[in-house]
Amino acid sequence: MTKILLGKVALVTGGSRGIGAAIVRRLAADGAAVAFTFAASEERALALVAEVEALGGKVLAIKADSGDAEAVRRAVARTAGAFGVLDILVNNAGILIHGKVDEFALEDFDRMVDVNVRAVFVAVQAAIKHMTTGGRIITTGSVVADYTGFPGASIYSMTKGAVSAMTRGFARDLGPRGITVNAVQPGPTETDINDIESQRAMLRPMMALGRMGKDWEVASLVAYLAGPQAGFITGSLLTIDGGYTA
Ligand SMILES: NC(=O)c1ccc[n+]([C@@H]2O[C@H](COP(=O)([O-])OP(=O)(O)OC[C@H]3O[C@@H](n4cnc5c(N)ncnc54)[C@H](OP(=O)(O)O)[C@@H]3O)[C@@H](O)[C@H]2O)c1
Repeated sequence: MTKILLGKVALVTGGSRGIGAAIVRRLAADGAAVAFTFAASEERALALVAEVEALGGKVLAIKADSGDAEAVRRAVARTAGAFGVLDILVNNAGILIHGKVDEFALEDFDRMVDVNVRAVFVAVQAAIKHMTTGGRIITTGSVVADYTGFPGASIYSMTKGAVSAMTRGFARDLGPRGITVNAVQPGPTETDINDIESQRAMLRPMMALGRMGKDWEVASLVAYLAGPQAGFITGSLLTIDGGYTA
């Protein structure tokens, strides 16, 4: 198979587990040199590095909490320093804190905004200093930006709504430089973020396909957006949800 991302350099935030790890694997398999950040899961990050290197890929793990703007900026600079350029930024790191409005803590509100929203702005601002025409910015949003579906997800949904608004705005800002900016909006996907069987049992009947998504399925869409065939797609919010919102 042709490695369509050969010679490209990518940074994936939150790449140690789940959808982010699948994106790291897929971009590396497509030929890109891939740096990724993690906050806590060092063992998983090192195992992923070993896995990608064993397959001949170029990969770099960087400890950087997305809630810390300086750490995010350093991760971008380190990626460009290690691999020379930066062509693809995938803002994937995200956290989900549940709670209904009457009980939601202010610290949880701030933490989710910092990681899910502010870090996207900070990473984009740092990354575009290194990007040239053909650059790609892809953020993992969520279908909850458009359809929440159940109680207790209002603040998480708000952060993903912010991602969708930023995506459209950044696409307008960066279009003249030939950089595309898009978001993928997964529906319920099997990862640690929802690793509770009662939750999954509630979600499955809500899916047109009767099953939740797989991390690699979301990664396939991200890889398509990162590739040369997606050059005319920008400002788009691409839903991948097994018919959850159909
Ligand atoms: N799974 C779903 O159903 C679903 C649906 C729609 C959208 N999404 C979105 O998809 C993205 C990935 O979620 P997931 O389901 O793969 O979740 P996950 O399995 O919990 O993985 C989250 C990843 O983000 C990293 N991360 C978390 N907080 C971080 C921080 N402060 N700084 C840096 N990295 C951080 C984690 O690394 P550490 O362990 O090292 O902290 C991990 O690699 C998120 O943006 C999420 O909102 C998920």
